[in-house]
Amino acid sequence: METIYTLEWMKQVARQARADGRVVGLVPTMGALHEGHRSLVRAAQQQCSPVIASIFVNPTQFGPNEDLHKYPQQMDADRAALEELRVDYLFAPTAKEMYPDGFRTYVTVEGLSTRLEGRSRPGHFRGVATVVLKLFEIVQAQYAFFGRKDAQQARIIRQMAADLNLDTQVVVCPTAREADGLAMSSRNAYLGPEERRVATVLYRALDEARKEITTGERDGARLVAVMRGVLDAETLAAVDYADIVDGDTFEPVTRLRRACLAVLAVFVGQTRLIDNMLIEEQDGAFLVAL
Ligand code: PAF
Repeated sequence: METIYTLEWMKQVARQARADGRVVGLVPTMGALHEGHRSLVRAAQQQCSPVIASIFVNPTQFGPNEDLHKYPQQMDADRAALEELRVDYLFAPTAKEMYPDGFRTYVTVEGLSTRLEGRSRPGHFRGVATVVLKLFEIVQAQYAFFGRKDAQQARIIRQMAADLNLDTQVVVCPTAREADGLAMSSRNAYLGPEERRVATVLYRALDEARKEITTGERDGARLVAVMRGVLDAETLAAVDYADIVDGDTFEPVTRLRRACLAVLAVFVGQTRLIDNMLIEEQDGAFLVAL
């Protein structure tokens, strides 16, 4: 695996791969790689060669009081993990390369960016959309792979790619989970042992909603109440939001329809965790994917 630090070199390598008729896949990450990232790499390898993984802790998507400065950084371990997966290139630009002095242009996906995550983390999706557009422009991959744990992020990136006529297809892959259901996240590393136990509350709340849907519940408010019942029972957990939303607009729904999501953001101690469950109608029945 070759590690590429500069934009120009990355552009040249990707341009050559496309000129050779190869299908380029991009897996954008902020490092601190876990099984979720590995599953994205494997999905990319099924359709693409070369596969390029990027590691860049993007400062513009962190708010002033967020965890940019303590975000886990483990470049050597990450590089070893990508080597083991036989990733072709690691793209690891510096912040100066990505945001040189005088940088002034940002991307905002209107509406979608101010709900849920965007309401709790103002400016977050502006930073995400900006860096992802830059990565898409630099690599010009045919496919880019994102995890469904960050469902709103994936939806916003898809919208941006459609609105700006980008040639990169956005592929969204299932959430990777620990054996007890906790969604894999780099931020799980912040959890102490008791918090780690409590953190399963997100999965437990979604699973209770899943059971209700399976037995016929269709009312948004009642499903939210079921999830809140599970979440509120954990004193170490503080709910930021718990909702049932339309999978397209991320607006709350009163009754299940087409494609919806149950979405959660919960503080466990100081650590903010998110998770979601996809609820899709097929032939009159609702199928649930956790
Ligand atoms: O999901 C992430 O890790 C980041 O938001 C992303 C997409 C790599 C952009 O910095």
